[in-house]
Amino acid sequence: MGKRIAAKITGVAGYLPPRVMTNADLEKIVDTNDEWIRTRTGIRERHVVDKGMAASHMAVEAAKKLLSQKKVSPEEIELIVLASVTPDMMFPATACLIQDRIGAKNAWGFDLSAACSGFLFALTVAAQFVGAGTHKKALAIGSDVMTSIINYEDRATCVLFGDGAGAVLVEPTENGNEGILDFHNDVDGSGGCQLYMPGGGSLNPASHETVDKKMHYVHQEGSAVFKYAVRRMADVSAMLLERNGFTGKDLALVVPHQANLRIIRAMQERLGVDDSKVLVNIERYGNTTAGTVPLGLMDALAEGRLRKGDLVMLVAVGAGFTTSGILLRWAC
Ligand code: UT7
Repeated sequence: MGKRIAAKITGVAGYLPPRVMTNADLEKIVDTNDEWIRTRTGIRERHVVDKGMAASHMAVEAAKKLLSQKKVSPEEIELIVLASVTPDMMFPATACLIQDRIGAKNAWGFDLSAACSGFLFALTVAAQFVGAGTHKKALAIGSDVMTSIINYEDRATCVLFGDGAGAVLVEPTENGNEGILDFHNDVDGSGGCQLYMPGGGSLNPASHETVDKKMHYVHQEGSAVFKYAVRRMADVSAMLLERNGFTGKDLALVVPHQANLRIIRAMQERLGVDDSKVLVNIERYGNTTAGTVPLGLMDALAEGRLRKGDLVMLVAVGAGFTTSGILLRWAC
């Protein structure tokens, strides 16, 4: 049984900080090389913030661009769901900072933590309020300053991530054949110890010791995460297609989370989808965590690869572990 939501994405915008860090730049600060990074991950460069730019600033840039593109006034926004593992601070919620700075006087909002699946969790939550008829315009935003939690002495993680944000506008639809046709979200907390940041929360509050032990950085068992991501991204996409009577051939576009080009290629092979139908921008942005999927939608639109009526799969796996897939028919 599918889980239709009577809501659709009606606009997309993103923000990437202007400064670019190439693989050659990384070669100067850690024992790595361009060839390893390109062949093992697909990444050539990533955007990184300058000191002082936080998740809220990138999210505000993306949201303002979106509102101006859509000619929607900030007062019309009723809900802001912000996905991030790098909020400006523990509290208040970064969604509140965004609400104030974009002038969304009539919106409530909150932050949601689901790492690389965060944007898709945020989109399903925002869409539920819209689909239920209680909200007419909601923003789902993914914004992460991954460089704020990366250890630049750990070559196995520091080469992977970049900074970026993306936002979508969610509005209701009465057309049963457009918008979110189905979705599947799940978590498997037994994987929590394979990708996490141990310091800074209530378990290990910030102290000289936690800083000395580098507990405020991303810790990852790369190959375990890799295997989980390949399996779950493929399983969830295949399940969503099957229970809606589609195959990979019906998809016009897959916009997967961008963690590693090899994960994306393994997943699409299992779905039987060729390269032309898979959005890949990891070479330019790296893994921007909650930013990857909306930035992928932004690029797909800019490249003319997304048209009204297209069947689209959004899919991600992230720390938690969290998994999300959304099957939708593009409606704008
Ligand atoms: O969005 C969710 C977040 N994260 C992910 O999805 C990440 C999933 N995992 C991955 O993408 C991959 O596991 C990595 C890219 C992190 C690592 O790739 P791998 O093919 O699994 O490499 P490995 O960890 O097995 O390491 C292979 C070798 C090791 O050397 P030895 O022990 O064989 O001599 C590493 O020390 O590559 C070495 N290595 C590097 N060499 C140059 C690891 N990182 C680097 C590096 N530059 N940056």
